[in-house]
Amino acid sequence: MRTVISGGTVVTAVGSSPADVLVEGECIVALAAAGSELAEGWAAGADRRIDASGRLVIPGGIDGHTHMEMPFGGTKAADTFETGTKAAAWGGTTTVIDYAIQSRGDSLRQGFDAWLAKADGVCAIDYGFHMIVSDVSEFSLKEMDQLVDDGVSSFKLFMAYPGVFYSDDGQILQAMQRASGNGATVMVHAENGIAIDTLVAQALERGNTAPRFHGETRPSTLEGEATHRAICLAKVTGAPLYIVHLSAMEALDEVTAARDTGQPVFAETCPQYLFLSEEDMARGDFEGAKYVCSPPLRPTAHQAQLWRGLRTNDLSVVATDHCPFCFRQQKELGRENFSKIPNGLPGVEHRMDMIYQGVVSGEITVERWVELTSTTPARMFGLYPKKGTIAPGSDADIVIYNPGLVHTLSAETHHMDVDYSVYEGRRLKGGVETVLSKGRIIVDHGAYHGSAGHGRFLERGLNGYLG
Ligand code: URP
Ligand code: ZN
Ligand code: ZN
Repeated sequence: MRTVISGGTVVTAVGSSPADVLVEGECIVALAAAGSELAEGWAAGADRRIDASGRLVIPGGIDGHTHMEMPFGGTKAADTFETGTKAAAWGGTTTVIDYAIQSRGDSLRQGFDAWLAKADGVCAIDYGFHMIVSDVSEFSLKEMDQLVDDGVSSFKLFMAYPGVFYSDDGQILQAMQRASGNGATVMVHAENGIAIDTLVAQALERGNTAPRFHGETRPSTLEGEATHRAICLAKVTGAPLYIVHLSAMEALDEVTAARDTGQPVFAETCPQYLFLSEEDMARGDFEGAKYVCSPPLRPTAHQAQLWRGLRTNDLSVVATDHCPFCFRQQKELGRENFSKIPNGLPGVEHRMDMIYQGVVSGEITVERWVELTSTTPARMFGLYPKKGTIAPGSDADIVIYNPGLVHTLSAETHHMDVDYSVYEGRRLKGGVETVLSKGRIIVDHGAYHGSAGHGRFLERGLNGYLG
């Protein structure tokens, strides 16, 4: 099957130009200047022509941080791999990297196999895994080497959630030592969980049980402190470090300072930290529970700093940390006690559109939008150039994006399997029109043509930002 996408503006991380794209089977095979003889010849011989006039033609989004079906706080995230990857596709994301979890007492391999089984045969788009290490031992440290060979080249450790996923500094140091030997990237959830748990207990003793106390007991200073500590541990070991879901300016300052010294430290933020704030967590009638995630939403003053970090590349990725829990049955678990509200927000469907609002408002360029949401995650997580760009040889994961569309987000119309939207009623400029995954049209002008099982597991290589 030969497909020509013609008349659009091809946008990559390095530039934008009017060009036609030739797709054969699952891959992009060539680009030609719009209107050139070459392009005209392709159009004549193509099996299918997609008219992208007035549209942006971008590489499919890569969401490097999702939690489909994640067990948390006695329940599990509402989206399955089937529903969550389908919702991602609707929003122009054609690859997700989810987090497989090692349960305490189990091996890494058991966790990885369990997550492979959950995703097998049901995903709408391609997917890979990071590995959450929650039981650092001599055995699991050795297992990290094998997992790198099996295409899992990044490992998340938690400074938060004592008794659940938490690792102490010595354990994190050991994982980093192993990573510095096998080339893996260590990802850290940087919040001081020990201090936070004390603040949580004190708040509850005072009868402060409402959702907003989730934020008050997780101050940004303790994210900054943990980020500093993670950077120091990484420095001692020489391992590359990736700070996940960075929310606070104090943490960003630490990342910026480390990067200025040349240390391989990277960080991601998420749309919720750019567009939502602690005021959402303070909504009455338990509505604030919809916005409970960790790290928590911050005062609005942090947002300008995060946009600055996205421009300067001190923040180099935008991922969603998609971890949805239904308001009615799941967030409800914490009605009498904020510490029992399952942590996480829905977002996988709206990342491309939300960050495009930064293009609309002039915070970032359209090329930077593509870089933050597709190209850098592809490089960072060992998928480039198969994913993350529009170039000969790359997978034909392509989004036709209409900058002229205006639409309103709502739980009534979204495709994530969750009963609320954190962006309910928000009007957005720009929207996804057509999505190709490996050459196949899976979304087109409001109709879904994908199928469960089209997505395949991606064995990832090492971080492309290291020498
Ligand atoms: O609140 C969050 N972020 N839930 C998902 C788990 C995590 O820490 O990423
Ligand atoms: Zn986390
Ligand atoms: Zn997460």
